[in-house]
Amino acid sequence: MAYYFDEPSRTFNEYLLVPGFSSSECIPAKVSLKTPLVKHRQGEEPAISLNIPMVSAIMQSVSDDGMAIALATEGGLSFIFGSQTIENQAAMVARVKDYKAGFVTSDANLAPDATLADVLALKEEYGHSTMPVTDDGSAHGKLLGIVTSRDYRISRMDPSEKVADFMTPRERMIVAAADTSLKTANDIIWDNKLNSLPLVDEEDHLMYMVFRKDYDSHKSNPYEMLDSHKRYMVGAGINTRDYAERVPALVEAGADVLCIDSSEGFSDWQRITIEWIREHYGDSVKVGAGNVVDAEGFRFLAECGADFVKVGIGGGSICITREQKGIGRGQATALIEVSKARDEYFEETGIYVPVCSDGGIVYDHHMTLALAMGADFLMLGRYFARFDESPTNKVNVNGSYMKEYWGEGSARARNWQRYDLGGDKKGLSFEEGVDSYVPYAGALKDNVDLTLSKVRSTMCNCGALTIAELQEKAKLTVVSSTSIVEGGAHDVVLKEKSGYGTGTMR
Ligand code: IMP
Repeated sequence: MAYYFDEPSRTFNEYLLVPGFSSSECIPAKVSLKTPLVKHRQGEEPAISLNIPMVSAIMQSVSDDGMAIALATEGGLSFIFGSQTIENQAAMVARVKDYKAGFVTSDANLAPDATLADVLALKEEYGHSTMPVTDDGSAHGKLLGIVTSRDYRISRMDPSEKVADFMTPRERMIVAAADTSLKTANDIIWDNKLNSLPLVDEEDHLMYMVFRKDYDSHKSNPYEMLDSHKRYMVGAGINTRDYAERVPALVEAGADVLCIDSSEGFSDWQRITIEWIREHYGDSVKVGAGNVVDAEGFRFLAECGADFVKVGIGGGSICITREQKGIGRGQATALIEVSKARDEYFEETGIYVPVCSDGGIVYDHHMTLALAMGADFLMLGRYFARFDESPTNKVNVNGSYMKEYWGEGSARARNWQRYDLGGDKKGLSFEEGVDSYVPYAGALKDNVDLTLSKVRSTMCNCGALTIAELQEKAKLTVVSSTSIVEGGAHDVVLKEKSGYGTGTMR
């Protein structure tokens, strides 16, 4: 006879935290959000910890190299999407690893025969007022000069005038060698009252630009996720088919951690994939697995050797898996059961396998709930898709700015391998996700800062200064449907349509 779970499938929205005692020590400034990313033995430090409990989803519309750099700067980590060629994915990983904070590869460059009209068009497109001039107009061509807004007067000049005739030429520029440290570059900028400094190699090819404004911002990132060579850390999604080619390419490119990206991970294909990695790399390559939604699935993946286990089927905002296939489980119920299984496994074996709650976070307070229910960290798609740094277009829809956001199981992403189990037997493909818009919400940093200030504040209400303490002390209550209504502003007429200033609302 079929097995029935006693508990109904519940979502985050059906829970609230009941405050516990807060001592006078318990203030948001003292809260640490550091959390393990990969498995470790009792009493040992994990090989990788996140400085904030957020990772960005393994999705085309969320995690490219730009997102990865922005999120690592704030203390989280991106998993670069795997639904692209191995070369392209490895190149994205390499770009994150090569990125030197404060050293910019210029994206708006000019050839000497470009015109003033070209300058204005580039300025409009990229929003930069400083453009290097190189012999071939590329980012690493031989440096011939620079154009800033001080070099031209639109009202007095003909749009067809050539850049070579009004640029500041190379011989009048101050430049520095490519291996100059950021500190020295900054000193040169200050001593010479510059706005930018080009760094060139021995043949005078442009390598990077250092801007005064970037140095200032670089100093204010205390949580940066850096590896032992001070490079940003980055993850990457893999699948259960081409791992023998994809994994070596990603490792070679410098990926710090991998994750098997599958909508349903309680399968032999995940075991085979993890075993292949262990056989070829031992424990030096970290790999998470999933997704599962019950204790049995967790134990299976933990015993296969997964470095973390991802929880969630059908809760993602763009997900129609439950409708299409009738599989899944309420995210809160799944997370609570899996977290309990993780603790039991830890007691039995002394090995702590972190749990990631993936999908279905709608409001900021859902993050605190998920952490309280046992998640070590959270994977977020919709949340990050709304920011400047996500790879998708910002479009004006009926007067409001939106960002595009599409599921990996949508016809647009065509990532069918995420939805069949693996191996070489392909089933008939059908959609398990939609193509959508999400309200544009500005810069990642501003939003993450605000969200985490709420998380820290709630943790203090629960008397917790760390995530582990929150998990131990949290008191959770199921709310009735009537009290869910009471949870928002009610019985008043709002003066303006409000997201309570967060931009996080649906
Ligand atoms: P969100 O944060 O609620 O938007 O959920 C993001 C998560 O949804 C991802 O990390 C995936 O686990 C899952 N997901 C991504 N694309 C699809 C899809 O097309 N169908 C179902 N689930 C998806």
